[in-house]
Amino acid sequence: MANNITLTIIKPYAVHEGLAGEIFDRITKTGYKIIALKQVHLTKKQAEIFYSVHKGKDFYDALTDYMSSGPIIASILEKNNAVEDYRKFIGSTDPVKAKNGTLRKIYGFSLSKNAVHGSDSDKNAEIEANFFFSGLERY
Ligand code: CMP
Repeated sequence: MANNITLTIIKPYAVHEGLAGEIFDRITKTGYKIIALKQVHLTKKQAEIFYSVHKGKDFYDALTDYMSSGPIIASILEKNNAVEDYRKFIGSTDPVKAKNGTLRKIYGFSLSKNAVHGSDSDKNAEIEANFFFSGLERY
């Protein structure tokens, strides 16, 4: 696919541990262009809206509590086939199951503290990018 975007989030644990710089170094060295970037501390309500696709699942409350527990870093990344390639690059949701060399294997700690989020489709990448960034914040 031609150049497209994906939305990534460095999750609270990884931000708190000071891992964001290393993670972005790996991301950019792998060929992703950062076209938007910001650090934010979501409210519980904002986290519920962002993860509304998971509403009703048993982990939804814990997930939105965690994602609103401290600052996160959101970024729009651009690259050919960005969504699919980035999901391979970050690895399985559960760091224990993630392949060696993936971001979640290297930096993840548990299913919830899995270091990073990546969009799961082009449609959701657009929705998620629009959640965090206006047109003026993209370069
Ligand atoms: P993420 O890619 O941000 O999308 C939803 C998140 O829910 C996922 O990463 C995990 O961190 C978190 N999560 C917590 N428990 C589960 C679970 N049982 N199954 C899937 N995701 C979970």
